[in-house]
Amino acid sequence: MIILAIESSCDELSIAILNNGKVLTNIISSQIKDHQKFGGVVPELAARLHLENIEFVIKSALKEADLSINEIEAVGYTQTPGLIGSLIVGKIIAQTIARYLNVPLYPCHHILGHIYGASIEKEFVYPVLAMVVSGGHTQIQLLNSVEDYEIIGQTQDDAIGECYDKVARYLGLNYPGGPEIDKLAKSGNPDAYKLPIPKTENEFDFSYSGLKTACINLINKMKQNNQKINIADFSASFQKIAVEAIAEKFEKAVKKYQPKTITVAGGVSANSSIRQKIMEIGENNQINNIIIPKLEYCTDNGAMIGKLTQEMINISKKLI
Ligand code: KG4
Ligand code: ZN
Repeated sequence: MIILAIESSCDELSIAILNNGKVLTNIISSQIKDHQKFGGVVPELAARLHLENIEFVIKSALKEADLSINEIEAVGYTQTPGLIGSLIVGKIIAQTIARYLNVPLYPCHHILGHIYGASIEKEFVYPVLAMVVSGGHTQIQLLNSVEDYEIIGQTQDDAIGECYDKVARYLGLNYPGGPEIDKLAKSGNPDAYKLPIPKTENEFDFSYSGLKTACINLINKMKQNNQKINIADFSASFQKIAVEAIAEKFEKAVKKYQPKTITVAGGVSANSSIRQKIMEIGENNQINNIIIPKLEYCTDNGAMIGKLTQEMINISKKLI
């Protein structure tokens, strides 16, 4: 089964082609440089750039996979969540290709796509416990199949990626701030600045707005007092607390739900400290299948939508 998949929910336009779940190509056209001068994603600009780039990206994907468009047997695309203009561009292109070729069309959920992106290189053994950490979401999901899953905890306010990006902006770093903080944290002292550990009522929920506000207040105070901020130390201190909150809740969930596979998904799963912590949690709890996805499948990409589409096709065949 040859699947063409489109991911266009935010500022990356990506087309992947998969053959029976194997990635033949995963072209990602990033707009980061175009949005950087505005300090964040400008939704209208993102949709316009998707429109400008789509033809080139599709042609490049077909060329790299060495296929003609007529060989595509199914089309998947990100239906939600995301920026509405960006999503509409992906949906119209996907519908047009599917209608033209008379092949089935699969609308996909972006977050479920991130989770299944982790299964590209190593198949899931269910139940799966997934730590989702992206620019818009922070969730723990428990999955028994692509159709049977539940969110057992989630952020009550900001997402972890959003928090990284906002704190980075106050530190004067470029957008997206997550990778910048991660890089700087490696040479900083994680105990240099005191920051509050986020607290929530439900044991598996998260909260990042308190940590964000505490960081912004501390940065502003130091600026007012003409105190020099050591950016590497601040990054390391922030990252320590931000990741501890994830690790503590996820480990508790692992002990309670006893999954066969654990994984981490979403853009922030590219974070070096989170990757290390999830690995440690898996090893400490004797989990045989620990999946830390390749960096290419962490941030938004078409391959994850292709893999989710393949899973949806597999399960519908089983039901017939
Ligand atoms: O999944 P994603 O590409 O887009 C959404 O669906 O939101 O995630 C983007 C987020 C941004 O907030 C970005 O700063 C963050 O992922 N990110 C990181 C790292 N790489 C990307 N955050 C922390 N450390 C990283 N290495
Ligand atoms: Zn995403």
